[in-house]
Amino acid sequence: SLEGFDHYMLKEIYEQPEALRNAMRGRLDDENATAVFGGLNLTPQQLRTVERIILTGCGTSWHSALVGEYLIEDLARIPVNVEYASELRYRNPPIENNTLVFGITQSGETADTLAALRETKRKGHRALAVCNVVGSSIAQAADGGVYLHAGPEIGVASTKAFTSQCCVLAMLALYFGRLRHLSFESGKSIIEDLRQLPNAVQQALTCNEQVRDVAKKYQNASTVLYLGRQYNFPTALEGALKLKEISYIHAEGYPAAEMKHGPIALVDDETPSVFIIPRGTTYDKVMSNMEEVKARGGPVIALASEDDPQVQAVADDVIAVPQVAEFLQPIVNVVPLQLLSYHIALLRGCDVDKPRNLAKSVTVE
Ligand code: F6R
Repeated sequence: SLEGFDHYMLKEIYEQPEALRNAMRGRLDDENATAVFGGLNLTPQQLRTVERIILTGCGTSWHSALVGEYLIEDLARIPVNVEYASELRYRNPPIENNTLVFGITQSGETADTLAALRETKRKGHRALAVCNVVGSSIAQAADGGVYLHAGPEIGVASTKAFTSQCCVLAMLALYFGRLRHLSFESGKSIIEDLRQLPNAVQQALTCNEQVRDVAKKYQNASTVLYLGRQYNFPTALEGALKLKEISYIHAEGYPAAEMKHGPIALVDDETPSVFIIPRGTTYDKVMSNMEEVKARGGPVIALASEDDPQVQAVADDVIAVPQVAEFLQPIVNVVPLQLLSYHIALLRGCDVDKPRNLAKSVTVE
């Protein structure tokens, strides 16, 4: 039931702190400074020999796979490839021995993801699932995996599944890292960062009213650009997808530095750009990308850390997001983007929970 919310999408956006707590429950092992999973069905010895990981999925789940690539390469130093499931199933790439494949899926019923997992299994590789729906086709087809425990996601636009997937991938990265070079101390500090996450997301939700005002201002845009770098590049893609799906406004996500290689030609005074610019390693670089857009007359909406006068001096609208460790930023930063698409869609009279032409699970290829 809607429990007082106007739409399932909004309810599910607000459920994210709890969904994250559920994803982490019983999985953080303080004594060993690592994560624990009950259903990987592989021994630490087997997992120790993994030399490459392929993450595959579709749509929003493909975006969390992109976040997973940064996470696993960063924390565990294992090379990762991200593949659209629809491409992987027919592409026939050479896959080395000791490659582990993860299918990322909310529903567990996406036809392409299921087929991609079956195909890699047929070739003799281990195929695991990061999945929300217990007992779904992909959960059954996989050799093992991790459930999100996010609860049912009813709104067609995926929200809490995305943040839960990113959280599970962060825990997997911690686990793989601790089987390798990651020290006890580093493991402990990652666990601390994870523990603070639900409260940070709770705090990010307090921007709702402000986001609604921003939505009013930009509701008639016909194109919106979403820009971020590193961990926030997939966040930009996800923000753009949310807007397309439910408000039918054309949107594109790019790594911010790619702008000057073409997309900046789209910028004019009616084409807003959403910059994801929290404090972190590429802050100065994104700042100059943002100034470039501003100099060409493009309206700028910035998602920035609290108290950032430098961003405030450049952007037309600033939405403050709580500061968290860089590897967890996508989980916090996507929240205002989900809300932005929700409010713009509402203002345009769109059916938020059942957008045109879309189905909750895509069981045809
Ligand atoms: C976007 C959305 C879709 C799904 C995609 C994969 O909001 O919902 O892009 O993410 O169809 O679905 P699952 O995760 O069920 O495999």
